[in-house]
Amino acid sequence: MRTTVGIIGGGPSGLLLSILLDRLGIDNQVLEHRSRAHVQRRVRAGQLDHASVAFLRQAGLAGRLDRLGLPQRGMNLRWRGQTRRIDLEALSGGHSCMVYGQSALTCDLTNALAASGRSPVYGAEDIRLSDPESEPHVITYRKDGAEHRLECRFVAGCDGAHGPARRLVNGAGGGSSKRLPFSWVGVLSETPPVSPELTYAYHPRGFALWSMRSDTVSRTYLQCGADDQAEDWSDDRFWSEMQRRLGPDVTFSPGKVTERLMVRMQGYVADRMQLGNVVLAGDAGHTVPPSAAKGLNLAIADIRELSESFRRLLFEGRQEALAEYAQKALKRAWAGQAFSWQMTDLLHAPPSGDPFESNLKLTRLDSLLASPGQLSLFCRDYTGAEAA
Ligand code: APR
Ligand code: PHB
Repeated sequence: MRTTVGIIGGGPSGLLLSILLDRLGIDNQVLEHRSRAHVQRRVRAGQLDHASVAFLRQAGLAGRLDRLGLPQRGMNLRWRGQTRRIDLEALSGGHSCMVYGQSALTCDLTNALAASGRSPVYGAEDIRLSDPESEPHVITYRKDGAEHRLECRFVAGCDGAHGPARRLVNGAGGGSSKRLPFSWVGVLSETPPVSPELTYAYHPRGFALWSMRSDTVSRTYLQCGADDQAEDWSDDRFWSEMQRRLGPDVTFSPGKVTERLMVRMQGYVADRMQLGNVVLAGDAGHTVPPSAAKGLNLAIADIRELSESFRRLLFEGRQEALAEYAQKALKRAWAGQAFSWQMTDLLHAPPSGDPFESNLKLTRLDSLLASPGQLSLFCRDYTGAEAA
C-alpha cells in the first residue's frame, strides 16, 4: 500500500486530519490499533471552546453538535458555601463554548469519513515506523495475523500520549512533563445536572466539578489521592463527598452510575513536534491536566493548522510549512498548559490538607471574585492564539 500521509491513531486528531486532507485531495490512511467500537466508547472530557465549535461548523462537521451540544455561556464557581456565576460570554466579547462528549465527536468524525467512502484500518497491531528522515517512510503493522506495509511521504503521529510517534520524534524520555500530587475520580451517571452550566467548587477537602452530557446525564469529578484506585470510591462515598464539597444548598439525587474512572493529573509538552517527515498533533505532542478541558481543543487547533500546512507544502511548495506548524503548535501547547495549570492551582486543595495553605487559596479566591477586572482570568480563550 502507498499513500501521501500515513496517519497513526484514529482518535479525534487522526480522524479530523483524515477528513480535512481528503477534502484537499491529499491521499491519506489512518492506522488505529484498537477496534472501532473501543475508540467510539472511550469517554473523555467533553467541552468544546468557541474556536473549536466555529471551526467544526465551518468544516460542515457540526450538525449533530449543534443539535445535541449544550451551550455554555458562563460557569459557576463555589467556594465558602456560596456560588458565583462568571459570565464568560460577556468577559470574552461574546464567546461561548459547548458541552459535547468526545465520544460523540468521534462518532461524528467517523461517520463523516465513512460518507466519503473512507475508513481507518482498525486493529492495526504492532505498528513500526522507520527513521524520520527516510523517504519514503515505511510503516509496518500486523492485522488479522498478516504483516502489512504502508509506504508514505509523511507520517502524522496522532496516536496520543502512549503511541510510538512521540518517542520517535522526541526520543525516549524527551519532552517536559510534570505530575501533580493528586488525581480525579470521575463518574458518569444518570443524574440530572445541578445547573445548566458547569459548576467548579473549591473546598478545603478538595476540588469538585459538576459537568453534564445531557439533561439527564451528569459527568462529575472529585479531587482524590494521587494513587487512588476506582475501587476506593464506592458510589456512596463519591456522592456523600460530592455533597460535602458542594455544600447543603446544592441538591441532587444520584442516579445509576454507568462509568467510574481515574484521571491522573499531569502535563507534557514535547521538545519538538516535527522531525524529518514525521509530525505530531494532539495528545501525541502535548497533554494538559483536565481542569480547563483544553486537551481536545488543542488537538482541534493543531489539526486545523496541520492540514493547512500540508496544503501549503504539497500545492505551493512551501518546504518549511511543517516546521512552521510545529513551532506554532508548541507555542499554543505551552499557552494551553499555562492556562490549565493556573486553573488547577487555583481550584485544588493542598493534598496535605494544610489549613494554612487552604486559607491562602480561599483568600485568593475571595479577592479574585471581588474584582471584576480579574475575572477574565477564567476566560477559556486564553491567548487568542487558537482563534480561527
Ligand atoms: N498504533 C495505532 N494507534 C495507536 C497506537 C499505536 N501504537 N497508540 C495509540 N493509538 C491510538 C489510540 O488507540 C487512540 O485511538 O491513537 C489514538 C489517540 O487518540 P487520543 O488519545 O484521543 O488523542 P487525540 O486524537 O490527539 O485526541 C486528543 O484526547 O486525551 C484526549 O484530552 C485529550 O480530548 C483530547 C483528545
Ligand atoms: C467534562 O465534561 O468531562 C469536563 C468538563 C470540564 C472540565 C473537565 C471535564 O474541566
